[in-house]
Amino acid sequence: MPLIKTKKELDQKLKSLSPSKKLGLVPTMGALHNGHVALVEKAVLENDVVVVSIFVNPTQFNNTEDLKKYPRDLFKDLELIESINSDILVFAPTVEEIYDENVSAKKYDFNGLDKVMEGEFRDDHFNGVGTIVEQLFDIVKPDNAYFGEKDFQQLQIIRKLVKTQNLAVNIVPCPIVREKNGLAMSSRNERLSTEVRLKAGFIYRTLQTAKRKFGTKSALKIREWVKNQFLKEGDFTLEYFEIADIETLNPLKRKVKNKKYRAFIAVYADDVRLIDNIALN
Ligand code: PAF
Repeated sequence: MPLIKTKKELDQKLKSLSPSKKLGLVPTMGALHNGHVALVEKAVLENDVVVVSIFVNPTQFNNTEDLKKYPRDLFKDLELIESINSDILVFAPTVEEIYDENVSAKKYDFNGLDKVMEGEFRDDHFNGVGTIVEQLFDIVKPDNAYFGEKDFQQLQIIRKLVKTQNLAVNIVPCPIVREKNGLAMSSRNERLSTEVRLKAGFIYRTLQTAKRKFGTKSALKIREWVKNQFLKEGDFTLEYFEIADIETLNPLKRKVKNKKYRAFIAVYADDVRLIDNIALN
């Protein structure tokens, strides 16, 4: 399976393809799991050529310890991709290849989408995501790019990026894939102890109950209830729980008919940060 390390090599490879071929991109940071497999399989179905990028992007980490501990296993990732389809092009550049000497993020105006939830707790995170995603779009020039709804805020920000930068790429959202107990699949789950990983189904169960309550209770009441559940639980520390409008990502104050809402959560389990979300209506 072709493993490509430089932009030049990738460019040459892509230029050698017929322009009529539909090109799909699945951007990842590696440590691939079944959530990624679902993205890659969808991309393979919907495109003639698929590029999977594997790059742990330093500018989107606000915490150097988190960056250091981010799981990396290129060999295992390549095996998994090969098992899906051996024609997939894997682009795994070095940090220098992407950033040269200047490992820093561009500054974007995401119209406030980046100021709440993840943006509030992870300074500059979305500028880092925007920087790498824009660069990958520029290198690969995909027709379709695939993103998981687990990072729903990221998905909305990338849609905004595409609109404001006038990029000719179709963003394809893919549903969250879950472990047996409901825990949203994430590369970070590998860092949980077996015991905590099993218990972490609690996060999704809480979201599901919040969804049931959404029919009859106010956002304020649901927020309070979730906070209390986590105080009682003990193994997990709640960073935030928010109910937000899916378009603006603004916290819900009063429900408006025809608007769509999601509940978003970030939790620490030991020193591992986990996020999840659920559609409420
Ligand atoms: O979702 C991710 O894994 C990353 O944020 C992405 C989109 C690959 C950018 O580094």
